[in-house]
Amino acid sequence: MKITVVGTGYVGLVTGSYFANKGIEVVNLDILPEKITALQKGEIPFYEPGLHDFVKEAIRLGKLTFTTDYKIALKDVDVIFICVGTPSKNSKADLSFIESATISIAENLTRDAIIVGKSTIPIGIKDWVVDLINKNKQPDVKIDWVVNPEFLSEGTAVFDMQNPSRVVIGGESSDSLEKVANLYSDLNCPIIKTDVESAILIKYASNSFLATKISFVNNLANIADKLDASITDVVYGLGLDPRIGNKFLKPGIGFGGSCFPKDITAFYTRAEELGLDFNLLKEVERINLLQSETIVTKIVSELGELKGKKITLLGLSFKPETDDLREAPSVKLVKSLLSKGARVFGHDPEALENFKKLNLEIDLSEDVYETCKKSDAIVLVTEWQFYLWLDWERIKSLVKKAFIVDGRNFLDKNKLKESGFLYKGVGVR
Ligand code: UDX
Repeated sequence: MKITVVGTGYVGLVTGSYFANKGIEVVNLDILPEKITALQKGEIPFYEPGLHDFVKEAIRLGKLTFTTDYKIALKDVDVIFICVGTPSKNSKADLSFIESATISIAENLTRDAIIVGKSTIPIGIKDWVVDLINKNKQPDVKIDWVVNPEFLSEGTAVFDMQNPSRVVIGGESSDSLEKVANLYSDLNCPIIKTDVESAILIKYASNSFLATKISFVNNLANIADKLDASITDVVYGLGLDPRIGNKFLKPGIGFGGSCFPKDITAFYTRAEELGLDFNLLKEVERINLLQSETIVTKIVSELGELKGKKITLLGLSFKPETDDLREAPSVKLVKSLLSKGARVFGHDPEALENFKKLNLEIDLSEDVYETCKKSDAIVLVTEWQFYLWLDWERIKSLVKKAFIVDGRNFLDKNKLKESGFLYKGVGVR
C-alpha cells in the first residue's frame, strides 16, 4: 500500500504523518518548493501542538517523504488524499486548488487508484469533479473518487486524527469505500459509508450546527447582560439536558478560524445557487459578525470617548494553541478600536509573528507586563492558559485604570474583583 497526500497544511501534514506512523509508505506533495525544503529538514511551517514530533517520527521510520514532483509522488500509488485549501472567495468556496490538484493527479497517474477528497468540497459539484478526472486521465487508467471529510480541530489535530468521533466516507463504488475504510479499521469509532453528497452534507451540517450553537449562546449572553443575569448559570442549566449537552456553548467574542466562517457562508450560498435556502445560517453569521462589537460597546460604556486611550489585547489567535489568525475576532476588534481613535497594544504566546504580517497599527510585545503598562482597559481576547497564571496584582500596579473585559469568561473574576479590578465578562455579573 502506498499513499500520496497532496497539500502540507494542517490536514495534509496530520493525515500524511498519521498513515506513515502506522507503517504505510506516504509521499506528501506540495507545489511550493520552499515548504517542501523546510519539511524535509523537519521544520513545520505553523504552530500545532505535537505535530513536530509526529512528523519527525514518521520521517525517522522512513515512511514519510516530501516532494513537489507529481510523477515521483504518484509512482506505485494506491490511494491519493487531496488536502488542499478551499478558502472563501465572493462568499463561495474557491475551488482552484482542488481543480489544479485533481488535474495534476489525473494527468500523472499511470495506474488504477482512488482519489480521496479530504478538503471541504461544496454540495452539488460531484459531476464537476468526476468530469475533471475523466477529461484529464490517461484512457487506460481507472480512477475512482470518494470523499472523506476531515473533522480536525486546530490545537488538537494530532489527537483528533488518532481519536476521531467518526470516520465518514462517501462514494459510489463499494470496493473503493471498503478500501478507504480499511485504512481506518484499527480506530475505535463508527465508520460511516455513504454516498458522496451525504458525506459532504455531514461535514457542512457538523460545522454549521456547532457555529449555530455558538451564535445561539452569544445572543443569549447579550440578553443575560441586559437582564443582569448569569449566562454561566443559564448554560449550566441548559447543558444538563442530555438532548442539548454543554459543548460549544461557551459565550465569547465570536467564532473564527479557517472553517466555521467560510463553511457556513459557502453552505448557504451554494444552497441558494441550487434553488434551496438555509437562511438560518445567515442569522448565525450576522450574530457572529456583531459579537466583537459588543466588546467594544463594553469598553466605550466604561471609558467613553476612546480617542487616545490605550487598550491592551491579550490573545490574538482565533483560539488558543494555534498561531492561526484566519477570521480571528482579534482582527475585527483591532480595526474597530483603531477606527475610534484608540491606541491598541497586543500580546499573544504564539501568534505575534503572524499578526505583524497584517500591518495593522498595533504595538505588539512579547512581554505581557510591558504591554499592559498604562492601559485604560485590558481585553482578554483568546483564552490561552498562560493568562490564567499572570500576576494580576503586578498588572494592577502597572495599568492606568484597573479595568478588564474578559471576552471569553475565562479569568477568575472573583480574584480580579478582590484585587480591585473592574471586571466585565460576556453575560456574567
Ligand atoms: C472546527 C471544527 O471543530 C472542526 O471539526 C473542523 O474540521 C474545522 O473547524 P477549529 O476551527 O479548529 O475546528 O476550532 P473549534 O475549536 O471548533 O473553534 C472554532 C471557533 O469557535 C473558535 O473561534 C472558538 O473560539 C469558537 N468557539 C468554540 C466558541 O466561541 N465557543 C465555543 O463554545 C466553542
